[in-house]
Amino acid sequence: MTEPILKVDDLHVTFPTEGGEVRAVRGINFDLAPQEILGIVGESGSGKSVTSLALIGLLPKSARITGSVVLDGYEMVGAAEKDIYKLRGAEIAMIFQDPMTSLNPVYTIGAQITEALLAHREMSKEEARAEAVRLLSLSGIPRPDEALDNFPHEFSGGMRQRAVIAIAMANNPKIMLADEPTTALDVTVQAQVLQTLQRALDETHAALILVTHDLGVIAGLAQRVIVMYAGRIVEFAHVDDLFYRPSMPYTHGLLGSIPSPTEDSDGPLRQIPGNPLTMVGELIGCPFASRCPMAQDICLREEPTLQRVTTNTEREQYSACHFRDDVSKAPVASMFLESEVK
Ligand SMILES: Nc1ncnc2c1ncn2[C@@H]1O[C@H](COP(=O)(O)OP(=O)(O)OP(=O)(O)O)[C@@H](O)[C@H]1O
Ligand SMILES: [Mg+2]
Repeated sequence: MTEPILKVDDLHVTFPTEGGEVRAVRGINFDLAPQEILGIVGESGSGKSVTSLALIGLLPKSARITGSVVLDGYEMVGAAEKDIYKLRGAEIAMIFQDPMTSLNPVYTIGAQITEALLAHREMSKEEARAEAVRLLSLSGIPRPDEALDNFPHEFSGGMRQRAVIAIAMANNPKIMLADEPTTALDVTVQAQVLQTLQRALDETHAALILVTHDLGVIAGLAQRVIVMYAGRIVEFAHVDDLFYRPSMPYTHGLLGSIPSPTEDSDGPLRQIPGNPLTMVGELIGCPFASRCPMAQDICLREEPTLQRVTTNTEREQYSACHFRDDVSKAPVASMFLESEVK
């Protein structure tokens, strides 16, 4: 087995607020293998972004972080800011929903790519410019030679995101971390940006953590998927198992709330009834119980831990559900519909 490039162990993140402590992340564990593509999905507020920011040491100072995040052998939790800064630059490239968070509005696209290249590789300015043209072209930017002299505001949203990916490639990272990279873009542009992301992985051999609320995005790219709910991992599975034999009713609910290509596309998008919990104060029982069509008494009393699904004998699949071994056999989708009617 190859050594993971990232190891997350019992990570907790809490924010003190006037309304009480927000327990945004409540003990999560996972490894990322070199070149792996790992998806993180979940509804708004489930802790996806807080988890990602914790991985790169970018949480606000008010956040209380415990547990361990080991990046390429270095512990990030509790490390000095200057060390985190160095590690982050050398190891991880970030791609956020709004490309303007990553781009500097006062420098040309070309200047930003060549700066990254010169910081990470031995080359002359001329070589850096030629390489920048190649990376922009690889990112699908038309007329890359001219585009180098454009400022970010002269690009469309999709082109900006592709420029961010070109800069990420120039940094030659071991991990790319993309948080909702296509959410702000319209559907056709989304597909192009995802293609660019895939090309960037082929080019750099980086691993990818892809955070999104959109399971469609995950389906096309990821190998393994983490499903988050109320600050925890509630399912961790190979992407095929996630789609074809989910072992947590919440995952079923998420699958039901994406439009199916085989269903009448004019029909309403099904949704999971109810709202996610606010993460303040003590939690008793499974945080999904009040929305779950399979919930029993035990679910109201005891929060289930993440455990191996024993009925999947082919691959490791983990679920935080008291009934994890039964979920794939239960008609959960229709149970959701019935619970809506009630
Ligand atoms: N700086 C902060 N101070 C207090 N609470 C915070 C802070 N940042 C995040 N939270 C809370 O932490 C929880 C998890 O937030 P997070 O941003 O990780 O959600 P998310 O899964 O990324 O959602 P979305 O899909 O909307 O991006 C939420 O309840 C959020 O309100
Ligand atoms: Mg987020």
